[in-house]
Amino acid sequence: MGALDGRVAIITGAGRGIGREHALLFAAEGAKVVVNDLGGGVDGSAMTASPAEEVVAEIRAIGGDAVANHDNVATWAGGENLIKTAVDTFGDVHVLVNNAGILRDRVLVNLSEEDWDAVINVHLKGHFIPTRHAAAYWREQAKAGKTVKASIISTSSTSGLIGNVGQSNYGAAKAGIAAFTVIIAEELARYGVRANAIAPVARTRMTEALPGLGEHIAKPSDAAVFDAFDPGNISPLVATLAMEDCEANGQVFFVQGGTVRKFQNWTMTTTIEKNDRWEVAELAQQLPTLFA
Ligand SMILES: NC(=O)c1ccc[n+]([C@@H]2O[C@H](COP(=O)([O-])OP(=O)(O)OC[C@H]3O[C@@H](n4cnc5c(N)ncnc54)[C@H](O)[C@@H]3O)[C@@H](O)[C@H]2O)c1
Repeated sequence: MGALDGRVAIITGAGRGIGREHALLFAAEGAKVVVNDLGGGVDGSAMTASPAEEVVAEIRAIGGDAVANHDNVATWAGGENLIKTAVDTFGDVHVLVNNAGILRDRVLVNLSEEDWDAVINVHLKGHFIPTRHAAAYWREQAKAGKTVKASIISTSSTSGLIGNVGQSNYGAAKAGIAAFTVIIAEELARYGVRANAIAPVARTRMTEALPGLGEHIAKPSDAAVFDAFDPGNISPLVATLAMEDCEANGQVFFVQGGTVRKFQNWTMTTTIEKNDRWEVAELAQQLPTLFA
């Protein structure tokens, strides 16, 4: 018996990297999987249909059930068709894993409007649109009296939650995804829908190319040594969050190798206050005590 028996899951960007690992584990755990991927380059250029088809073939080879979908998750019609693909093929949908992403790293002074828009579009809008269509579907189900036990797992990053030089576009999108998760978790709970996010670290084409990181995350030459950067290490947490009776909601988790850590939301810390409006000179003097 699998942990995800009877679950229908959509995984975006599942043709490669971390998403592919999610798709393979979900299928091995009994889920029926919609493998979405438009087959783009790491920067969102050049498309080929084959990655999604290849993952579907791998899943079928192990006796699992999957269908490929090549929609662009950042388009309204694409997101709508993605949910429709799951419902038309498997009769329902219970899990949405928002994972698709691209990179256009540049320091701010070299960042073009196009590089900003492309990254914000694929990540932030590409999380919003499938989530929006799935949420509408689950709200209809709840209103019709059906017990919904749905789960949304989105993909944030330490690049946004902590910050990383050269990734202001990507980091802004990823921090936005964490905020989006916290808010929709509150909004959708009434329909039986949970929403959580992960901030993963793993070896994929996205991280292998990063200056200084490629060597650090290389596969160990000794097969007996745990490969802490294998992208497959990320998927057990995502599968757990996808389970029907998982209770996590509105949480963001760091996950790498065998480590899972819960992030804390932006939170208020030190305070200065007076029962009157501050004078600028007075506040200028007091402000450093907040970050001393
Ligand atoms: N690898 C890491 O360490 C790491 C760290 C933090 C966050 N992430 C995030 O994890 C997710 C997966 O990244 P990865 O490292 O596996 O990269 P990857 O490049 O191997 O996989 C991303 C996949 O998304 C697909 N994709 C891109 N745009 C799409 C679109 N508009 N519609 C549908 N599919 C699209 C690509 O074709 C690709 O197959 C991304 O959101 C990434 O930002 C990864």
